[in-house]
Parts: sequence; C-alpha cells; structure tokens
Amino acid sequence: MLSLRYSILFFLVTANCSLLSDILSAFETSTDCTSCHATLLPALQTGAQQGDTVFVSTLTTVCQTLKLADDDVCVGEFERVGPILAHSLRALDTTGPTATQLCDAAFGLCQPLPVNPFTVTFPEPAPAQPKKFVSRGRPPIKVVHFSDVHIDRQYTVGADANCTKNICCRDFADHMGPVTEPAGPFGNPACDTPVNLAESMLSAIAGGGFGEPQFAIFTGDVVSGDTWIVDKSEAAKDLVDWNAAMLSGLQIPVYPTLGHDSAPVNSFPRNTTRTNETSQWVFDIEQVGWEPWIGRSGAEQQDHTSGSYATVVPGTNLRIVSINTQYWYKEKPFSCLRDSRDPNGILSFVVDQLQSAEDLGQRAWLVGHIPPGKADIIHDQSNYYNQIVQRYINTVAAQFFGHSHKDQFEIAYSDFSNQTASSADSIVFIGPALTPTSGNPAFKIYDVDPDTFEVMDAKVFITNISDPHFQVEPCPATWKLYYSARDSYGPLVGPLAPTDPLNASFWHQLTDVFEANDTAFQLFNTRISRGGAVSACNGDCKTTTICDMRAARAENNCDFITPGTQLKREVRTERSVHGGCESGGISTLLRGAIPRR
Ligand SMILES: *[C@@H]1O[C@H](CO)[C@@H](O)[C@H](O)[C@H]1NC(C)=O
Ligand SMILES: *[C@@H]1O[C@H](CO)[C@@H](O)[C@H](O)[C@H]1NC(C)=O
Ligand SMILES: *[C@@H]1O[C@H](CO)[C@@H](O)[C@H](O)[C@H]1NC(C)=O
Ligand SMILES: *[C@@H]1O[C@H](CO)[C@@H](O)[C@H](O)[C@H]1NC(C)=O
Ligand SMILES: *[C@@H]1O[C@H](CO)[C@@H](O)[C@H](O)[C@H]1NC(C)=O
Ligand SMILES: *[C@@H]1O[C@H](CO)[C@@H](O)[C@H](O)[C@H]1NC(C)=O
Ligand SMILES: *[C@@H]1O[C@H](CO)[C@@H](O)[C@H](O)[C@H]1NC(C)=O
Repeated sequence: MLSLRYSILFFLVTANCSLLSDILSAFETSTDCTSCHATLLPALQTGAQQGDTVFVSTLTTVCQTLKLADDDVCVGEFERVGPILAHSLRALDTTGPTATQLCDAAFGLCQPLPVNPFTVTFPEPAPAQPKKFVSRGRPPIKVVHFSDVHIDRQYTVGADANCTKNICCRDFADHMGPVTEPAGPFGNPACDTPVNLAESMLSAIAGGGFGEPQFAIFTGDVVSGDTWIVDKSEAAKDLVDWNAAMLSGLQIPVYPTLGHDSAPVNSFPRNTTRTNETSQWVFDIEQVGWEPWIGRSGAEQQDHTSGSYATVVPGTNLRIVSINTQYWYKEKPFSCLRDSRDPNGILSFVVDQLQSAEDLGQRAWLVGHIPPGKADIIHDQSNYYNQIVQRYINTVAAQFFGHSHKDQFEIAYSDFSNQTASSADSIVFIGPALTPTSGNPAFKIYDVDPDTFEVMDAKVFITNISDPHFQVEPCPATWKLYYSARDSYGPLVGPLAPTDPLNASFWHQLTDVFEANDTAFQLFNTRISRGGAVSACNGDCKTTTICDMRAARAENNCDFITPGTQLKREVRTERSVHGGCESGGISTLLRGAIPRR
C-alpha cells in the first residue's frame, strides 16, 4: 500500500520534471512561427492534457525558474489564467490557424493571420443623396474625454515606489529592506492612480476653470494593474466605486465604455464558450452604475448586448454608440477561437445603431476602448468594423478610444491603398490615460460643432507629476492646459477657416507635415506621453509611428510582432506594440520566456 503510494508519487514527480524540462527546452528552442507550431504548442498541450493542476504548477515553475516576474506574480497569474489557457490548449489543433493566432497573441512568434475575407451586409444601401450636416458657425459645445484611470484603491502613501512588479506603491508582503522611494499622496510613475489623483481630475473638470462641458466620455479601464491579485470581488468593487465617483464628482452626463475590467483581467468569455464562465456580472454592475447617464433602456441594452449600448445625448442630434471591444482583443484568454465573424453580435449591433441614426438623420460617435488600428486587435474584426464605418461614413462624425495610454490618433480611408487627404474619411481620437504609468496624467476637452458634431479643437490638460509642487498637500495636484491641437497644428497644416473642423483630411495633412518637418514630429512624439515618458523616435520608429497614424484598420499598421518582451518596469516606457497597460497577465509573462534574439 505504502509502496504503491510512493511509486505513484514518484511517477507524478518524474512526469512533472520531464514535463517541466520539455516545456523549458521548448521555450528555449522556439524562435519562430514554425517552431511555435511544431515544438512549443505540442509541449504545452502535453502539459494541459495532464490536467489544470499540473499545467498551472508547471507553468508557474517555468515563470519562476526563468525569473519572468516575482514569485508571487508568477503564482497569481497562472492560478488565474492557467486553467483558461489549458482549456484552449486541450482543444487546439496545433497546426491550424487558431494555433497561429495563439503563437501571435501569447508568444509573439507568429505574425497575425491575413484577414479572413468577409463582406458585411447592411440593411440598406448607402443613400444616393446623404443628408448634409452643415456647420452654422454656432459656438462649440465642450466634451471631456478621460480614459484608463486604473485606480489603485490599495495605493499606500509611504509604501515603496521602487519595486519589480507591474505596479508598486503598495505594502507587498515580499518587500524587503528599507523603503527607498516612498509613495507620495498623489501618485508615482511606477504606480497606478491613487484615489487622490482621480478626485483631483474630477474636481478640475467640474471646477469650470476649463469651460463648462456639456457631457463626458470615458473610454474604459478602471481596475489597477495588479492582475495577479485582482479577483472578481475587487474588480466589482472598483467598478462600483468609480461609477459612484464619476456620478458625485461630475454634474454632467458621462458616456462610459467597457475596458478590460473583468476577473481574470480580459476574461469576457464568449456566450458560446462551453463552460459556465460568464462575464454577465460585469454587465450587471454597469447596468446599475450607468443608468443615471444612459437611462433605463440604454442600461438594459448594455446588459443584453455584452456591454455595448447606444444613446442620444439629450438636447442634441448626436447618437453615442458605445462598443465593448473586448471580443476583438487578441490577448483575451478566450479569444483564440476563430469561430465567429461577429463574436457576441457586437458588429451587427453597431450596424443596427448606425442604420437607425441614418434613418433618423442623426450624427453618431463611435466610442470604445481598444482603437481599431492597434496591433493587439484581431485583424478580422478590425477589417469588418472598418467596412461598417465606410458604409455609414456620412453618419459617423468621429470616433473616440483609449487603451494605449497615449495621446494619439488614427485615420481611416475610403481607399487604404491610396492614402491621401481626400481619401481620408474618418478620424479616431485616442484619449491619454489618467494613470501616471505611461506619462503625465491627462484628459482632453474637445470643442465640438453643435450642428455637425465634428471636432473643432482637442485640448489636452495635464498635471505634471515631476513638478516639485505636485505632491504638496493639502493643495491637490494642479491641472493646466498642455496644448491645443488647433492652435499648435493648425498653422502647420495651413490656415484654417473658423468653420473648418479637425477632420480626417486635416489629420492626414498633419501626417504629411510630420514626414517633412521633424521638429513638428518630435513635438508630437513628446506629447504622446505628455512629456512624461519620452523615448527617442527616429528612423524606423518614426516611419512606423506615422504609418500607424494612417491605420485605423489594423491590417494597415506597420507594427511587427516580436517575442521577448518582458514584464516589470521596462514595459512602461518601451514603444513595443505590447507595452503599456493591460498587457500584464500571462501573455506578457510567456513572451518573456522566449529568448530575445
Ligand atoms: C530600489 O531597490 C533596490 C533593492 O530592492 C535597490 O538596490 C535600489 O538601489 C533601489 N533604487 C533606488 C533608486 O533607490
Ligand atoms: C455548468 O453548471 C451546471 C449547473 O450548475 C452544471 O450541471 C454543469 O456541470 C456545469 N458545466 C461545466 C462545464 O462546468
Ligand atoms: C450570443 O450572442 C448573440 C448575439 O447577441 C446571440 O444572437 C446569441 O443567441 C447568443 N448565444 C447565446 C448562447 O446566448
Ligand atoms: C489616389 O487618390 C487621388 C485622389 O485622392 C486620385 O487622384 C488618384 O487617381 C488615386 N490614385 C490611385 C492609384 O488610385
Ligand atoms: C474636412 O474639412 C475640410 C474643410 O472644411 C473639407 O474640405 C474636407 O472635405 C473635410 N474632409 C472630410 C473627410 O470630411
Ligand atoms: C514638469 O515639471 C518638470 C520639473 O519642473 C519640468 O522639467 C518639465 O518640463 C515639466 N513638464 C511639463 C510637460 O510641463
Ligand atoms: C516645423 O514645425 C515647427 C514646430 O511646430 C514649427 O515651429 C516650424 O515653423 C515648422 N517649420 C516649417 C518649415 O513649417
């Protein structure tokens, strides 16, 4: 009896040891897309077939052995996402297209698959004589845009801001030795947003010093970056608390959109996934939290449409279409299943809403979290989304997204193979983050023409985290105008008439200016992080950056997927397509296991 038990134990230990060394050597020898299919995925699949427990403990050991992250981060990340990955691996054809998608998303070893061609169908053809939206030159309305707040409700003043985790400024159990950089009351570039900083932004907006906005848009991401710790109850509380803060802090309607806020992070299981996992609890929370702004019917629609809704801004002719972009996200644990053209029906929802807007003679804004041209959006859905934008081009006045933490824009074209100021036809504004992890905390205020709902100016406001007065209590961090796009870029593009909007043609012309005038490009490059985390950008970097401005369709961006990105502090400032915000989580960890070459 005893010996049998020992021999079983011995068998398990040896099995795990050889599994561990197989997986370690598979990581070591997988250098490209071919070896990812041939070596890495089969090794991982073998692990997954031994059950979630073995898989999770083996991958945790890989993470710890290769020092991809602190021990507790390795444990927490794989505990959360390991079973989901194991589930996907067990069902995987390691030679098929889904496997290619996994090698791209999780390891950076394959380039994205070419778009699976699909022609979106529409209820009505585009009208022969579309309604004209003409500016009457009336004074603009003001609209606030804030994004990626990532509030850390466990931020601890005095805790160490010098740590080796994705976010610091907390009393982590494994902290050793004296505190070398005590966290100040208003934030630190190594840490997510303290409540003080979030309140300071809301009161700066509400204070009226920057004009009286008519409404606000919030393009997602509430929860802090401690993805290895966050559970459902923390994520739920963070969502509820932020809704309450916006409601009490701002006296104007807020039109929010969903980011990556689930538990585990990014986990929005498809409604077809054959497990009992569901993210309905996220939609249920937002149904209650968003109702004061989007009404009962908008809130119910959000709950029934996997987090998307549409609503008309009271007193205007503007329909806001708020889109949950999570089902199009490459790094989402459940997304590696290329089994639907329109996961959870989000694309058809957008079609329906834009058709209604067209029928009613309304203009529309598309608002979402992940910009449609980024490297981490699935090319298929980006392509289909762009078809929708092109069909309703007369209705869509502008688009607003977040996610990158950067102050950026993306342009769509009627003909992406001939990118000119006259084929440029839709502009995507990307809102900078509040969280200081990728530059100075910022928000935007747009001047918007009340007849066309096109953007006349985009002003960026910041608080300067390296200003010596930044942390001084009781006076909160102060906010100031950083720049006005119209004042700064208008003269570079050419004299603008007062009624000329900052539309897609304008921004395309600005990209031409950036190509010709390096001083102007470098100014833009500094502003990406609001002067807070500037990295040099010349040569290929400049070419790629300008190419990406002209790529509101992901297949047109110039980002090259590479392995070897590592977690920890480095992620914050690098220009890598995986850097930045919510790439925390196992895909970032696993990428780090692929040696840099
Ligand atoms: C950060 O902490 C490490 C040890 O945890 C220490 O070696 C290093 O000097 C600290 N950095 C600063 C800037 O204090
Ligand atoms: C889903 O939940 C039902 C009811 O609780 C249960 O019978 C079933 O086994 C669960 N399925 C899975 C795959 O966990
Ligand atoms: C999944 O969502 C789509 C689109 O909303 C819907 O048509 C379908 O019935 C849903 N499936 C399930 C299983 O709920
Ligand atoms: C590109 O577009 C311009 C106008 O925007 C047009 O004059 C030109 O013929 C187009 N070129 C090609 C190759 O389609
Ligand atoms: C942008 O505005 C300019 C000036 O009013 C106009 O000539 C151009 O056609 C507009 N472009 C788009 C894409 O609407
Ligand atoms: C922030 O303050 C620092 C220190 O005073 C200064 O060097 C820097 O230029 C300021 N940055 C911005 C964007 O104002
Ligand atoms: C280039 O851009 C800079 C910065 O905006 C501006 O001051 C300068 O006048 C521009 N040069 C030309 C030739 O337009």
